[in-house]
Amino acid sequence: MYSSSIFEGNLYDFSDQEPQRAPIGIFDSGVGGLTVLRQVYRQLPNESIVYFGDTARLPYGIRSQAEILQFAREILTWLQQQRVKMVIMACNTSSALALETVRQEFSIPILGVILPGARAAVQQGKRIGVIATPATAKSNAYRQAILEIDPNVQVWQVGCPEFVPLIEQNRIHDPYTTEVARAYLEPLLQQEIDTLVHGCTHYPHLAPVLRSLLPSHVKLVDPAVHVVAACTQELDLLGLKNIHLPLPTRFAVSGCPQQFAQSGVKWLGYTPMVEEVCFTDTASQLQQDHVG
Ligand code: DGL
Repeated sequence: MYSSSIFEGNLYDFSDQEPQRAPIGIFDSGVGGLTVLRQVYRQLPNESIVYFGDTARLPYGIRSQAEILQFAREILTWLQQQRVKMVIMACNTSSALALETVRQEFSIPILGVILPGARAAVQQGKRIGVIATPATAKSNAYRQAILEIDPNVQVWQVGCPEFVPLIEQNRIHDPYTTEVARAYLEPLLQQEIDTLVHGCTHYPHLAPVLRSLLPSHVKLVDPAVHVVAACTQELDLLGLKNIHLPLPTRFAVSGCPQQFAQSGVKWLGYTPMVEEVCFTDTASQLQQDHVG
């Protein structure tokens, strides 16, 4: 529990007369952040949301830290232009590789998923497995966060490169996905984990598949639940909770809006209207800089 706002001391520039009415920005590489959006609908039903999916540049989990940082800067700049009052970085890869840096650069409060997920994990068990994108697993962000909270637990992390493409392609119930999941879980089951953290916001979409492969005593931790609880607390502390009716959620993507709408309907229960937002092609620019 935060005793005071973690954003105290930051400057806020809400030109809106009523900053409480401003939307919350949520972003991810794709449909993964919808697992966080779902929690916002449950826990913060009065908040208006601007959701951004960087679908033209996913998967993030195989990108370099420089790329992830650049993408986060571009998305946060855009969200700030949309006058959001707070941002939930609904992406573990960005939270692991970019959160600390961008928090110094932007005056808007930004919440990441890793610390709330780590806090929830240590409350659940002592032998903690984390499944994550290769970049998140390699960063050791979960291990560090968990061990800082409780040095007496054990943590094993597995990078799962195939999960995000399979989820984005709507192949959750494909038998191939179950086989891939079985292989990723194998080393964690050998360690007899008692808790498994969804270290990527896409993975709660796979929960039924994972559940079918795990012993029933293994608890699943979804950081989405806990980041939204932290967000609620922050809104309270900063006096930014909306008490009026929310506006309809705005969806924007960098890739194909129709494709996002098609995959989103399954998770949202309605067909979203999706806008397209173009950023300059910094990914290839970064690659060129690297080659040059
Ligand atoms: N859903 C994101 C995460 O939590 C990004 C996954 C990806 O694009 O590889 O890490």
